[in-house]
Amino acid sequence: MPKQPNQTIQQDRRYLWHPFTPMAQWNSQEQLVIERAEGVYLIDDQGRRYLDGVSSLWCNVHGHRVKKIDEAIRKQLQKVAHTTLLGLVSEPAAELAERLVKITPDGLSKVFFSDDGSTAAEVAIKIAFQYWSNKGKPRKGFLALHNGFHGDTLGAVSLGGIGLFHKVYRPLLFETCLAPSPYCYRCELGLDRQSCGLACAAKVEEILKQRAGKIAAMSIEPLVQGAGGMIVAPEGYLKRIREITKKHGVLLIADEVATGFGRTGKMFACEQEAVEPDIMCLSKGITGGYLPLAATLVREEIFEAFCGEGQTFYHGHTYTGNALACAAGLANLDIFEQEKVIEQLGPRMDRFAQRLEEIKERDFVGDVRYKGLMAGIELVADVGSKRAFGYEQRIGAKVCRAIRKQGVILRPLGDVIVVMPPLSICLEDIDRLFDAVGQGLGDCRGLLEAGDRGGTKK
Ligand SMILES: Cc1ncc(COP(=O)(O)O)c(C=O)c1O
Repeated sequence: MPKQPNQTIQQDRRYLWHPFTPMAQWNSQEQLVIERAEGVYLIDDQGRRYLDGVSSLWCNVHGHRVKKIDEAIRKQLQKVAHTTLLGLVSEPAAELAERLVKITPDGLSKVFFSDDGSTAAEVAIKIAFQYWSNKGKPRKGFLALHNGFHGDTLGAVSLGGIGLFHKVYRPLLFETCLAPSPYCYRCELGLDRQSCGLACAAKVEEILKQRAGKIAAMSIEPLVQGAGGMIVAPEGYLKRIREITKKHGVLLIADEVATGFGRTGKMFACEQEAVEPDIMCLSKGITGGYLPLAATLVREEIFEAFCGEGQTFYHGHTYTGNALACAAGLANLDIFEQEKVIEQLGPRMDRFAQRLEEIKERDFVGDVRYKGLMAGIELVADVGSKRAFGYEQRIGAKVCRAIRKQGVILRPLGDVIVVMPPLSICLEDIDRLFDAVGQGLGDCRGLLEAGDRGGTKK
């Protein structure tokens, strides 16, 4: 039976609880129903096209409905959709594991599959903890960063450093040391941009010295703290963290869930500073943004610590290494290789950077930060003093709504407008995206005044 007009929206309002969404407001807002997609465009049920400016939450890589990935999934579907990895071997999972080991930084040699970024982090945490336990030198401390994000399951939240998302769960979490975030625009240590990164790294070393022999691992989002507001670490910070963790015998977990698969301009952000972590978390772009899949990679010596009697890693999810997702993952890697995706990024990154630089001088723009095709535009009430907008002004959300009217979908993180299109975006679409951002920023004053008068027009 054909659907009635608005039936989907009614079903959504009646039955669906959206993630990371203040639901009371959701039901009073105008909503878009996305029905299909083509390349970097999402198409709604009225046939209107929107540029997917955040890669469907940072996971889409080559655009939507990519022939090679569609075909790979169909081909796998003709064999089998899913079989368990508990006790059985699966061809696409084994092949993808080999290919991931070959493209990730040297030293990582074993792949543990799971389902999403949070489970990749959860696996990393449990492996790090049990590694020390299996070695007979138990450690239960973890070190992470303010503004850090590793997912929404409780282990991952324990490593989280974003008050708005994580504070409420504190009573449920294990204790984690949090070091300052290299957020140079608002340096916690009160330093200028030049000194911020090194001083933040020095704080990490101070903590590791104080807690010698107690910290199992440090977890970091290499180069860009995504959910914390697209905070780009100054050059050399990541490398320094690797040196410090190595010196103090602490495992380094590189959470490349957001930065992996080309986002920063290299296949993995760790490559930008020749960093070889002990454990690496991958998800989001691993299937080109098609299906849920994650991988936690570890060094051989970590894996070996789980091979003795009574040392087994008793962890696994039902859909671990799902065949359809792994087939999509293999096709994703084929595209990277055959179409030389990373090698072709230069002109796109240049145009992206050029358009972002132009935005720096706009009203209410406090900071513009980017790496590769990941960017954050931080809006402030007063540029000179960096005074933030009040939470209740919801300026980020309002500006993104204005941008949506221009046919571009973005999603803010508080007052930071996040721009993170698929790597396949063409130069014309980069221009279209930033023209819409420019228009949205131009509307900022009007949106604020409307807010002051008691809200925007419906
Ligand atoms: C760095 C990082 N780690 C982990 C996650 C969690 O991933 P998921 O939402 O797939 O659980 C995210 C999600 O944004 C992330 O950015």
